[in-house]
Amino acid sequence: MKLDTRVFPDMDALSRGALEEVSDNIRDAIAQRGRFVIALSGGHTPAKMYSLWGAPGKYRDETPWDRVHMFWGDERYVPADDPLSNYRMTRETLLSHVPIPAANIHPAPTSLPTPEKAAGAYDAQVRGFFGADEPVYDVTLLGLGPEGHTASLFPGSPALEEKQRWVVAVQVAAKPPNRLTFTLPVFNRSRNTYFLVAGKDKREILAALRSEPDSQPSQYPAGRVRPAHGRVLWFLDQAAAS
Ligand code: 6PG
Repeated sequence: MKLDTRVFPDMDALSRGALEEVSDNIRDAIAQRGRFVIALSGGHTPAKMYSLWGAPGKYRDETPWDRVHMFWGDERYVPADDPLSNYRMTRETLLSHVPIPAANIHPAPTSLPTPEKAAGAYDAQVRGFFGADEPVYDVTLLGLGPEGHTASLFPGSPALEEKQRWVVAVQVAAKPPNRLTFTLPVFNRSRNTYFLVAGKDKREILAALRSEPDSQPSQYPAGRVRPAHGRVLWFLDQAAAS
């Protein structure tokens, strides 16, 4: 499949490039709809971008924080202060450094009796936020796993076939195994989707994605994210791209 890539020399440049794009999206979304809604990704790669956004400077200062709403496209089913929590990583790199109202932060719940109950609760929360509208995020950030997973949609998972629920609980072959994830009906409605991919261990999976025919559904979850009315950009560092 054809990937629309932007290649940067290193993580710092990649993070700035992605943030620059997000800043444009914030301006447009607020001008058109009065708010900006983002689904964040976890993993290691976006941490640098979150830190840049939260650091003193133009990105932080020019963001109208009271108009910004943050959700997580996937979350590990661990307490919010666990080292593996995507929320915790975002709080430390970004949220604790910016004046975003608490009511605009919408983390996935991870302390209900079961992940399934938590997925149902987050699904209801997302539906409550969008009301009668479809769940159209202005920006969705995603990462890429070495076997083609994205968010917590892993190859072969029944979650990939989900058509009704917007959030499901999954068990995955990674640490930690219990996770919540948005489903393809949500990811495939996003206005802008940015994959942030860095490091040489992502080369092989990028080559595999590129070698797939555009005419067939991808065998990789990341390749199944193809919003009919949205834009997908791949932000790569040189190490991943070469
Ligand atoms: C997670 C993710 C996951 C991640 C990829 C890439 O919660 O683990 O959202 O899909 O984005 O595994 O992770 P890295 O950025 O650490 O390579």
